[in-house]
Amino acid sequence: MGKVRQIVLARRPAGVPQPEDFELVEGAIGEPGDGEFLVAMRVGSVDPAIRGFLDDRPSYIEPVQLGEPIKGMSLGEVVVSRHPDYPVGTFVRAFAHWADHYILSGDAWGLEKVRPQQGVELHHYMGALGPVGLTAWVGLFAVGEAKPGETVLVSAAAGATGSTVGQIAKASGCKVIGIAGSPEKVQVMRDLGFDAAIDYRATSDLVADVSAAAPEGIDVFFDNVGGEMLEAMLPLMRLHGRVAVCGMIDQYNDADHPHGVTTLWQLVVNRIKMQGFITYDYPEVLERAQRELDGWVREGKLKPLANVRDGFERLPEAFIDLMSGRTIGKTLVRI
Ligand SMILES: NC(=O)c1ccc[n+]([C@@H]2O[C@H](COP(=O)([O-])OP(=O)(O)OC[C@H]3O[C@@H](n4cnc5c(N)ncnc54)[C@H](OP(=O)(O)O)[C@@H]3O)[C@@H](O)[C@H]2O)c1
Repeated sequence: MGKVRQIVLARRPAGVPQPEDFELVEGAIGEPGDGEFLVAMRVGSVDPAIRGFLDDRPSYIEPVQLGEPIKGMSLGEVVVSRHPDYPVGTFVRAFAHWADHYILSGDAWGLEKVRPQQGVELHHYMGALGPVGLTAWVGLFAVGEAKPGETVLVSAAAGATGSTVGQIAKASGCKVIGIAGSPEKVQVMRDLGFDAAIDYRATSDLVADVSAAAPEGIDVFFDNVGGEMLEAMLPLMRLHGRVAVCGMIDQYNDADHPHGVTTLWQLVVNRIKMQGFITYDYPEVLERAQRELDGWVREGKLKPLANVRDGFERLPEAFIDLMSGRTIGKTLVRI
């Protein structure tokens, strides 16, 4: 058996992660046991949630220990198999770790077969045609209960999830207001057909700008950011509005000092439903979601947006850029 390259946690980050927080190490590739298979990573997913796994605090995943490989979603190809359902050559997506080869069993978290369609680049199955699209769909429809004609507000709207939410909301007949943090991101939202695109860094009154774009109020707020963004937007919700709490990236780099949201009383005033979610807690809708995402891409209504770099060793660099707010679309690394 050959060598495996892994990226391990060398030091717990303080604030935005730094290159010294990670180390590339080499080891021997293990042998899959009965019911297991060896996967060669083809596309590594770079996600804000990983930042939470690097702190020594409880989350929905056990924290990564010093010296352990970074945990994350990955798309790969089975290269050795001792599992009849996952023969060599099968493409699989699963929650794994930052290693160019890793062993999975049939009950790995988030394990799905991927059947790449002709003409669609493989990395999109880790983006809008994969976990990103599923997260957008689950948050918007299963949690946010968005309906045609409603007004949807999205934060971090030029990012992986946000850019997908905005597009599938438009494809479903909603009005879409996007908020993001640079002129380039505003242009991206405009190009994707959002009804309004607001740069929160450039405005002196975000609440006034969102109110002007949506004088009717917000039916669904798909929030990726939390903190001050959530606090400012809650009073703009309509009666019986829904807040789909997808993430709170605003506090991931500084989890010891979360911003206290002072506007929660609005939940009562406007009978708002606010719910957090984890995509893979909704297995019953994922098949339908995938079918609809595939359809929207075929029809040109969903343009998968990604920033892709090549080389396993570039995973930390991509993650640092993501957690610095520098990326547009889904951040991915091809191996
Ligand atoms: N619940 C689930 O199952 C699930 C699944 C996937 C992702 N998520 C969550 O969804 C959210 C978006 O994830 P994504 O993968 O789509 O990432 P992303 O939006 O592609 O990238 C992150 C963006 O967040 C914005 N941001 C706002 N405050 C920030 C801060 N303090 N530090 C860094 N960035 C900040 C930046 O855009 P601006 O310039 O616009 O501020 C940045 O470009 C995250 O909160 C993530 O945890 C949840």
